Amino acid sequence: MALLSSIFFAAFIVFSLSEASSHAHWSKNDTAAFSVVASEEGGGEWVLLQKSIGVSAMHMQLLKNNRVIIFDRTNMGPSNLTFPKDKEYCLNYTIHNNPELVTDCTAHSLSYDVASNTIRPLVVRSDTWCSSGAVDPSGTLIQTGGFGDGSRSIRTVPPCDDDTCDWTEQQQVNLVENRWYASSQILPDGRAVVMGGRHVFSYEFYPKADGMSSGKYHLRFLVETYDEKEENNLYPFLHLLPDGNLFLFANNRSILLDYNNNRVVKEFPVMPGGVKRNYPSTGSSVLLPLKMNGKLDGSGLPEAEVLICGGAQLGAFTSTKGKGFVAASTSCGRITVTDPDPKWVMETLPMPRVMPDMLLLPTGDVIIINGASKGTAGWENAINPVLNPVLYKTYEPNPESRFTTLNPSSIPRMYHSSAVLLPDGRVLVGGSNPHERYKFRAEFPTDLTLEAYNPPYLSPIFASLRPTIESVEPRTKTVSYGQSFGVKFQLSVHTNDSAKFSVALVTPSFTTHSFAMSQRMVVLDIVRFKHLYTRYKKPSARYDYKIVVRGPPKNTVAPPGYYMLFVIQAGIPSQATWVRVQ
Ligand SMILES: *[C@@H]1O[C@H](CO)[C@@H](O)[C@H](O)[C@H]1NC(C)=O
Ligand SMILES: *[C@@H]1O[C@H](CO)[C@@H](O)[C@H](O)[C@H]1NC(C)=O
Ligand SMILES: *[C@@H]1O[C@H](CO)[C@@H](O)[C@H](O)[C@H]1NC(C)=O
Ligand SMILES: *[C@@H]1O[C@H](CO)[C@@H](O)[C@H](O)[C@H]1NC(C)=O
Ligand SMILES: *[C@@H]1O[C@H](CO)[C@@H](O)[C@H](O)[C@H]1NC(C)=O
Repeated sequence: MALLSSIFFAAFIVFSLSEASSHAHWSKNDTAAFSVVASEEGGGEWVLLQKSIGVSAMHMQLLKNNRVIIFDRTNMGPSNLTFPKDKEYCLNYTIHNNPELVTDCTAHSLSYDVASNTIRPLVVRSDTWCSSGAVDPSGTLIQTGGFGDGSRSIRTVPPCDDDTCDWTEQQQVNLVENRWYASSQILPDGRAVVMGGRHVFSYEFYPKADGMSSGKYHLRFLVETYDEKEENNLYPFLHLLPDGNLFLFANNRSILLDYNNNRVVKEFPVMPGGVKRNYPSTGSSVLLPLKMNGKLDGSGLPEAEVLICGGAQLGAFTSTKGKGFVAASTSCGRITVTDPDPKWVMETLPMPRVMPDMLLLPTGDVIIINGASKGTAGWENAINPVLNPVLYKTYEPNPESRFTTLNPSSIPRMYHSSAVLLPDGRVLVGGSNPHERYKFRAEFPTDLTLEAYNPPYLSPIFASLRPTIESVEPRTKTVSYGQSFGVKFQLSVHTNDSAKFSVALVTPSFTTHSFAMSQRMVVLDIVRFKHLYTRYKKPSARYDYKIVVRGPPKNTVAPPGYYMLFVIQAGIPSQATWVRVQ
């Protein structure tokens, strides 16, 4: 009996939605707690994870093995990360016009293990400076371009679980053009597009279609959006839309691009306000959540909205050369790109911001993090770091109430900093190096720390509201287009209110230079919601549920690959489980 009473007592009764109704009880506490998360200024918490990872986090990519591939450039002198003696690898290069050969035996890349909070140095050979990346359908990082010997490189890192994998540089295949400050996006057929780059007005694909070795496509839009002396169109914002076309934003203009036929389908209105949004007047951009259970366009696909925030005025970059630091922009523009007659709706940030990182949180809200309030991107080009993240409440109907200023970090994250969403709902933040080399005595020193920002939904006061995912059916965790699948989870509250739940798929982004490439969230259709059974275990009961959701309708809505699946209840997300969409 002792044994019996110590194990879960489960009532193996399956309630349907209506049968469960008489058992439902939401405590006042839960409701009160939720209103705190929704309204509190100054929420969230910063945690220093690592005092030094030895490398400044210019680029970051989370892979499905819960490792984050972090790297800087490779040819600016030694980093602070050494290899184990038996794994040492030295690069030989010259710096700028100095003919002296430097032998550099430090690491410029690493794999960060999220669960154990440990790092492992990796070997990257060609120069990754200001490069781009995407994750292919098998979960492998496809990393493209850079500078010098790396400007046409294609490098890969697979997601292995045994901590043996490292960079592979493609030997036979290269990019057709130099791609320095280019953007990438994963496509419905599993290829990556690489768009633009410094003095390069074209795009290309990896891998190339059969027999196409010279495939590059000139795009006049990239020429037209290039500002003399300032550029303001590098790292263009690129989002794959549900209809399969690409949304492309550069400087202050945007187009819908049919990349298969190299045809501009439509041009959106110029974003008003006289603000430049792309490097070096760097703002950021997100494709807001694609809601299958929200508004659909005429063809049954989800409506798509883009949000772009921050940036700088024309002339701001030029003025940094004389140490004049102009206030950054406070404006954001939001546009429903699937509307027949789309218009920018302008909104105002709580503070000016250049070089913000914008990440989708599992709740569908956007966190705006890192950056400065004066100057532009580029070495030594900004002052006045903005230490407070800002939460943008995507679904708040009143535009005046959409922004909340959150708790500040103590570490300035200026040029060459980055941030990515982790599967446990935290935001991993690192980098900042507004200098040509590693420089630790400066107003804004090269930063080698790694921090986590825990958004307000991770507060312990919401623990009782947080779903815990138990399993995904089928057990292969493979989600097929248009097919329903089940997600079982537990909660410590009893509810029958399916409207409080959502299930979202989120891609891990390739983040660099304030742009989270391929970032995407698809909010799935809920087909069924069931309370399965109750486990009466002292001191608190656990309630088991199953949600059946429909997989994304097609590969233009969710390109094939690995996604973080979150169950969200009343604004509180579970930890994610990885699923493969194919
Ligand atoms: C859920 O339970 C509450 C309280 O028992 C009841 O008022 C409500 O109608 C139920 N909702 C559904 C959708 O069954
Ligand atoms: C209600 O919430 C407060 C924190 O907001 C917590 O201290 C308290 O234990 C909760 N009460 C119950 C019954 O869960
Ligand atoms: C990096 O290494 C240099 C040289 O050894 C040292 O002076 C500096 O303090 C280190 N910086 C950090 C942040 O660890
Ligand atoms: C760099 O130079 C060292 C010393 O001359 C040599 O041992 C090493 O093989 C070189 N590394 C590369 C990648 O060429
Ligand atoms: C957009 O940018 C172009 C090129 O810099 C500039 O001529 C034009 O005035 C800008 N338009 C607006 C509305 O800001």
